[in-house]
Amino acid sequence: MIERLNHVAIVVPDLEDAIRIYRDVLGATVSKTIDLPDHGVTVAFVDVGDTKIELLYPLGEKSPIMSYLNKNSSGGVHHLCFEVDDIKVTRDHLIKKGMRILGDGEPSLGAHGKQVIFLHPKDFCGTLIEIEQT
Ligand code: CO
Repeated sequence: MIERLNHVAIVVPDLEDAIRIYRDVLGATVSKTIDLPDHGVTVAFVDVGDTKIELLYPLGEKSPIMSYLNKNSSGGVHHLCFEVDDIKVTRDHLIKKGMRILGDGEPSLGAHGKQVIFLHPKDFCGTLIEIEQT
């Protein structure tokens, strides 16, 4: 069902510093920063071969990652994103298995312009999971 790991999202308290660490210390290619006001985040993508690391920094006062940063002041892994062929089939399968979908359960437009749902971390070993339609 789940396919490629599309990205690992990491919330960071200082985006420029995080970019410096990945680019200058670890030697990875890092994208320019991109503001996504609809999602309340500024992002930069670290290219690591077949997947990406998505550096997330809050944008605006109502950013959904602000509370995460308040609890984890040095940042941390926020979610994993897996690709699927058909997000609605996947969603229905997960509901049948007793898993909880966050929000109203309907796929919404994610940060990459693709349909996504988020799965309850308590159902997945304490990890927030994003499912993205390829
Ligand atoms: Co994501």
